[in-house]
Parts: sequence; structure tokens; C-alpha cells
Amino acid sequence: MIEGIDGLEGVVAAETVLSEVDGAAGRLVIRGRSLDQLSGHTSFEAATHLLFDGFFDGLPADLTQPLADARSEVFSEVRALDAELVARTPMEAMRALTARLADGDDLATALRLVAAPAVFTAAVTRAQAGHAPLAPDTALGHAADILRMTRGTAPTAAEVALLDAYLVTVCDHGLNASTFAARVVASTRAGLTSAVLAGISALKGPLHGGAPGPVIDMLDAIGSPDNARAWIEAELDCGERLMGFGHRVYRVRDPRADALKRAIKAMADGSNALPGRLAFAEAVEQAALQILKERKPNRSLQTNVEFYTALLLEALAFPPPAFTCVFAIGRVSGWIAHAREQVAGGRLIRPQSRYVGPTPLAA
Ligand code: ACO
Repeated sequence: MIEGIDGLEGVVAAETVLSEVDGAAGRLVIRGRSLDQLSGHTSFEAATHLLFDGFFDGLPADLTQPLADARSEVFSEVRALDAELVARTPMEAMRALTARLADGDDLATALRLVAAPAVFTAAVTRAQAGHAPLAPDTALGHAADILRMTRGTAPTAAEVALLDAYLVTVCDHGLNASTFAARVVASTRAGLTSAVLAGISALKGPLHGGAPGPVIDMLDAIGSPDNARAWIEAELDCGERLMGFGHRVYRVRDPRADALKRAIKAMADGSNALPGRLAFAEAVEQAALQILKERKPNRSLQTNVEFYTALLLEALAFPPPAFTCVFAIGRVSGWIAHAREQVAGGRLIRPQSRYVGPTPLAA
């Protein structure tokens, strides 16, 4: 479906074997597996393998070591992280470093591109906190190394499991805006790096992957459950949207929200601040859903993936400005698989516009 472009609603822009988003039932299927079968049960490397299977020659059965080697390879680009880039938003700095990678269509290029958002996000986050970037540790899995490179200390097994659950949950999601952007660029045969850069750029906006940072701002501004209704009402009165709610496809609850909430609950063991923060977020969520229902009775506005993404990434101590980068770390595998699928079976994507401007005056 090309929705959001007048006149193209209902047009199928791509057939895919990669994932299906059932907006009426609230179901997500990734290559024949339900989200619940994957999230919390599969590593990011295994999910990437699932997405890449059939799209690359010579795909090894286990991507853990090749991906670790690719992290090590792309780390050399961190030398280009100068003061000017460090002063940009994490998404812009990460995108600029990713743009230094050569274009190509082979597995080696793909693995470097999967590694790039992880390595560059960690480097940028550390640099913005005033610390030197840390080189990858090729003995670690992807999620464990991301946390170590970002924070400088070894993560717990529970933290690694939580990040893995997140990355797998967001690794692919039908023809969303960033995947569509990646497929359009891939359809011109521009190469995988160009397609991934298009995906990163589309993901950056607040209506797509840029929402979870502002979710934290919202929770912090509300402060306590008693204040939720007044704050939300005031926000909507000003014409603002509530970040983390609403979705173009889902008319019921986004199944990824529950997958992430489950993963957070599994880590909230009472020994840290997480259970209290989660209970507060749930209270805000309930207030928001109630008010959205009162204000938009004809439009089903439900919690989307970004609401619990914010809580999860906060629990892992990522700074909110870097949240969208972490989304890209997971989604990059989906972009690459879609780009390969587009090149393998698709034509140039070239929708027609409908001219509504003035007609030329007769000569
Ligand atoms: N808060 C308040 N009102 C909303 C929200 C929201 N989060 N979402 C939609 N609405 C309202 C709109 O104002 C509009 O009202 P109107 O008909 O009176 O003008 C109505 O619901 C329909 O909105 P649309 O813009 O047509 O819905 P669309 O399908 O285009 O939007 C979107 C989907 C962009 C996700 C929207 O719900 C939104 O802006 N949400 C907040 C940002 C967000 O959470 N983005 C992350 C999405 S998930 C992802 O991309 C990974």
C-alpha cells in the first residue's frame, strides 16, 4: 500500500517474503515466525540471518563472528569523528560516519552496514559524554559489545538479553517509511550503502523513529501519575501529538509494545528503579489512551512500539538523544534484506504524481 500519497492508497508497492504487518489483528510475522516466537528467544545475529537467508551467496550459518569482525573493520572510520560531528545530533553524526562506507551489494558490504550503526552510535555517545570511543571486542556478541562500547563496562546477561529482545523486535516491519525509502533507492541499483542511508534518514523524523526520545521528555514533564491527565490535555489543546501513540497500519495495539513490555518486566527484579518507572509509565499510558479515546472516538489510537522502546532504552542507560540510533541498529538488517529483495525481483519504483498546479497560458 502506498498510503500517505494522495491517489495511491491501496497500490501495492512491493511484494515481500520478509514480514507481514496485520494492522487489524495486531500481528507481526517475520519470515514465517510470529514476533512472540522471535522476541526474547533469538539473538540479533540469528534474526539477521533469518532476514538475509536466500539474499546473499555464501551466507555462513552463524553470523556472530563475521559480524564481530565487521564491527572491528568499520571502527577505523571513527577517526573521522571530529568536534563538528560530535556537536551534531547522534543520528546525524552516525549517518555521516556510515556515509563513509563504500557502496556495494555483497555480503561483506552488508555486514559492514549492519555493524556500522552499532559501532558509530557507541562512539558518538561516548564522545558526546566526553570519553574516547572504545574499539569493538570481537569475542562478544553484537548486543553485549554495543553495551560495552557505549558504557565502557561489561553489561549483565539480563541487559544483553533485553537489548537483544529489542533489536529483534524492531528488525523488520513491512513497508514502513524507512524501509520504503531504502527500497526506492535500492530499486535504482544505487547499492546497499545508499539504501541504508535513505533508511536512516527516513527513520530520523519524529513521526517514525524519532518518537522515543520525546516519550522520555513527556514522562519527565508529567512527573507523577496525578499530573498525567492535566499535562496530556494541555498538550493536545495546543495541537501537539502524543509521542508513542497512533500508527498508520495498526488499528489495535502494536504487538511490539507488548513484546518490549514483557522484556522490560523480565529485567525489573525489584533491585533497581525499573519497577517504579514501569508502573509510572503504565499509568501515563492508561491516561493517554483514555484521553485519546475521548477526543478521537472514531479513530483507534493505541500505544505503538516507541512508548516502551523509550522505557527499555532508558533502562539500558542509552541517552534519549541516541534512542533513534539504537532503533537503526536493529532495523538496518531489515533495510538490507528489503534492498536485496527489491534488486532481485523488483523494478525501478517510480510512482506517478498527479499534477494539480496551474495550466500554462495559451501562447
Ligand atoms: N496524538 C494525538 N493525536 C493523534 C496521534 C497522537 N499520537 N496520532 C494521530 N492523531 C490524530 C491526528 O491528529 C488526526 O486527527 P484529525 O483527524 O483530527 O486531524 C488523526 O489522529 C489521524 O491522524 P493521521 O495523521 O491521519 O494518522 P497517521 O496514520 O498519518 O499517523 C502516526 C500515524 C504518524 C504514527 C501518528 O499516529 C503520530 O504522529 N504519532 C505520534 C508519533 C509517533 O509515536 N511515531 C512513531 C510511530 S511508530 C514507528 O514509526 C516505528
